[in-house]
Amino acid sequence: MQDRIFNYSSFFSKFPVINLENFILRDLSLSDNQRYFEVLSDPNVAQFLSDEDVPESPYKALEEIKFWGSLFYKKQSIFWAIVEKETNNLIGTVGFNSWNFSSQRAEMSYDLASTHWRRNIMSEVLFHVLTFAFTKMCINRIEAKTMTHNVASAALLLKMGFKKEGVLKSYRKVRSKFIDVDLYSLLREEWSAAKNKGIA
Ligand SMILES: CC(C)(COP(=O)(O)OP(=O)(O)OC[C@H]1O[C@@H](n2cnc3c(N)ncnc32)[C@H](O)[C@@H]1OP(=O)(O)O)[C@@H](O)C(=O)NCCC(=O)NCCS
Repeated sequence: MQDRIFNYSSFFSKFPVINLENFILRDLSLSDNQRYFEVLSDPNVAQFLSDEDVPESPYKALEEIKFWGSLFYKKQSIFWAIVEKETNNLIGTVGFNSWNFSSQRAEMSYDLASTHWRRNIMSEVLFHVLTFAFTKMCINRIEAKTMTHNVASAALLLKMGFKKEGVLKSYRKVRSKFIDVDLYSLLREEWSAAKNKGIA
């Protein structure tokens, strides 16, 4: 199949911006640090994140942005800022924490400002990001890990056609407690089937 031949150097030559109707998925910028801090340190959001993913200050957010933003330029993976078209304000992030080129597998993560929840925004974002991953990144399997009590994230993944594979026991340490995490996956053929049925 043509899309199974991944052109590594072409992919990493220019950061791919994804344009949605009201939002843009763009490269993280250092000046996003205040918004990044506000979005991820909001207790509504932070309750579903591991301690290391919750920035303690805008300065720590800057460090996080440098790390996630560098993945593309180190040719390792890709992470987008989700920003409002009108204001260029960051309202969330989405991307692939790890990308295994030889096994054509990547792990996806996403977060959205609680002020923007339940407006179908992440459904729209994931639809475009998953389409991008399966068509431009030559991915065959996408994984997502979500805390077992994260009802919204589970609903979102199931809506996009992901299937739950099992429970990873005591996988993350959150506020000094070991927490179980559910492992979900979406295969390329499942994504095509979900799209054809109009599920995703
Ligand atoms: C998970 C998250 C990204 C969902 O974003 P969102 O834009 O609000 O989701 P959507 O509006 O696109 O909703 C997607 C589906 O999930 C369902 N859903 C969303 N929030 C829900 C909730 N609190 N309870 C039950 N279902 C929920 C929606 O009903 C929708 O399904 P439907 O279209 O069939 O009705 C957002 O809640 C979030 O950022 N949470 C905190 C951080 C987080 O959990 N990150 C993921 C870590 S794995």
